[in-house]
Amino acid sequence: MSTRQETFVGRVKHVLGSQITVELDPGLAGIAPIYRGQLQQIGQIGSLVRLPQGMVDLIATVTLVGISELTPGPGPQDLSPAGERWLQVQLLGEVDKGTKQFRRGVGSYPGLDDPVHFARTEELQAVYPHPSTSHIRVGRLSASEAVPVALDVNKLVVRHSAVVGSTGSGKTSAVASLLQNFAQGHWPAANIVVIDSHGEYSHALANHASVKSVLGGENERLNVPYWALPAEDILRAFAGSTGGPTTQKTWSTLVAEARRQFSFAASWLHLDPDAITADTPVPFDIYEVWLRLDSENRETRRAKGDALSACIETTGDAATLTPARYTPHGPAGSPPMQGPCFGLHGNTPELLRLGLLDPRLAFLREPSGTIDGPDPLVAAVDAWIGGIRPVSVLDFNGVPDTAAELAIGVILKLLFDVAIRTPNGTEGIGRPSPILVVLEEAHRYLGDKAAPIARDAVNRIAREGRKYGVGLMLVTQRPSDLPDTAMAQCGTIIALRLSNSADQSKIRTALPDTVAGLAETLPSLRTGEAIISGEALVLPTRALLNRPDPLPLAEDPSLDAWRSLCGTRDVRPALAKWRGIYEQETK
Ligand SMILES: Nc1ncnc2c1ncn2[C@@H]1O[C@H](COP(=O)(O)OP(=O)(O)O)[C@@H](O)[C@H]1O
Ligand SMILES: [Mg+2]
Repeated sequence: MSTRQETFVGRVKHVLGSQITVELDPGLAGIAPIYRGQLQQIGQIGSLVRLPQGMVDLIATVTLVGISELTPGPGPQDLSPAGERWLQVQLLGEVDKGTKQFRRGVGSYPGLDDPVHFARTEELQAVYPHPSTSHIRVGRLSASEAVPVALDVNKLVVRHSAVVGSTGSGKTSAVASLLQNFAQGHWPAANIVVIDSHGEYSHALANHASVKSVLGGENERLNVPYWALPAEDILRAFAGSTGGPTTQKTWSTLVAEARRQFSFAASWLHLDPDAITADTPVPFDIYEVWLRLDSENRETRRAKGDALSACIETTGDAATLTPARYTPHGPAGSPPMQGPCFGLHGNTPELLRLGLLDPRLAFLREPSGTIDGPDPLVAAVDAWIGGIRPVSVLDFNGVPDTAAELAIGVILKLLFDVAIRTPNGTEGIGRPSPILVVLEEAHRYLGDKAAPIARDAVNRIAREGRKYGVGLMLVTQRPSDLPDTAMAQCGTIIALRLSNSADQSKIRTALPDTVAGLAETLPSLRTGEAIISGEALVLPTRALLNRPDPLPLAEDPSLDAWRSLCGTRDVRPALAKWRGIYEQETK
């Protein structure tokens, strides 16, 4: 036997496919020897070991640590006398000793009694790519903090990703730090849209981001025009439902007609009137359409078949949402009679009226567009993607969930629709310049209870986004609520601490079998520590993520105030602000 090398940890005792049991060298004092002044954490789940095989070093990850007399199997008992300490490792790939290049998969398996070494920093550095113009730094190896961990930007952005972790595990911070690196690093012209449900990101990204908020002042206001939606979705957005088939049909006919009228009058639109449908995103006056639908629902006539015999008392007023008045119909077939559509639309027109009056939906009513132009959608979409800023934060803080869901659905749908139509070789978003959508609280938009507009838009991007240069980063504390189909589309998973077992098993099934041991560490990860796995990183890896600077507004509130002697609690400023929002919107 040759003299013992400093990095030597033990010998191969059992080989089962790529699973290898290593008997630790009895001369090894603990499972954390010191090498060149640094503690080597070979006994850590997820740390890497090296098995020299001629011209290559096999690289394996530690998946189990045990003492044979305490832990039954999987090391064959007769091979491990009582008291033996062993490691189970999983082969992942090999480093060519000449080129120092790492490749996944192994050419030849180790033999019995082959030596096993812990991987030194220089070997780890050969395995993990360095931060560069193609790789963005996210943190460092948990087991060897001198080694930076960087993700392949192309794969990360276009092949979708998921950032999951229980509340407080560090998701928002991880994303904020990543976005700061994008904006400050090699990607000043990035195209990142952050759907920020809690208003946490603006602080961390203030210097690089355009921030638009649904409740913001004039220039910071986020607007999402209703007419950009298909007719049926407009009704869903304002009335909450689409009513019966007759209502849907009437509504679609009326909207298509209104869109055609606007298009005909508008100097900036040159559309073939026959090509305009109820779903073409042409502005129209929803108030007028409401009045027509509502009047139809109320109309009485002296003679049922004669439209000219309508018993109208006042015509109503669209702009003020005042309904028309008709003479009430007589009892049991005596005139005035019910009009042909009397009552057919149920309470849908009334629900629509209430929706149009709802201050929380005010941001859906702008911009309305004028016949003289310009195209109001250009400015709206430009505001969503943040103009020339690399990051655009769309802040939905303070908006009720339902309204936020609808608006987010509209935005994502439109961004995707724009991206799929962007011609190659132009400067638009999509294939020429991919766009990354960061979706906080993603489970809300993808789950069963989500508004169909939002769910359809997100699912569509998940399914087809990569073809058209639209990437998704789903951020959620409830991965178990994400549909399997969406999860399966995520090429990269960044899993922070997860305490719920349903969530853990969802992530376990998404991770490769080879790193089952890593998945077992999910509940015990530190804040800001993650298991990263997938296309953007060579190996499934446990990493300490960078902390953002400045921090997002995600710090837990402090209880210092509870200790002060003369605690005063004045709710008036907050109430004034609350009322202010409503007053401003109802104007
Ligand atoms: N990498 C990190 N290192 C240390 N502390 C962190 C790290 N990331 C986040 N934290 C802290 O953890 C807390 C929760 O972070 P946050 O990003 O809001 O988590 P989440 O979005 O998962 O709820 C914050 O107080 C934050 O400062
Ligand atoms: Mg968060």
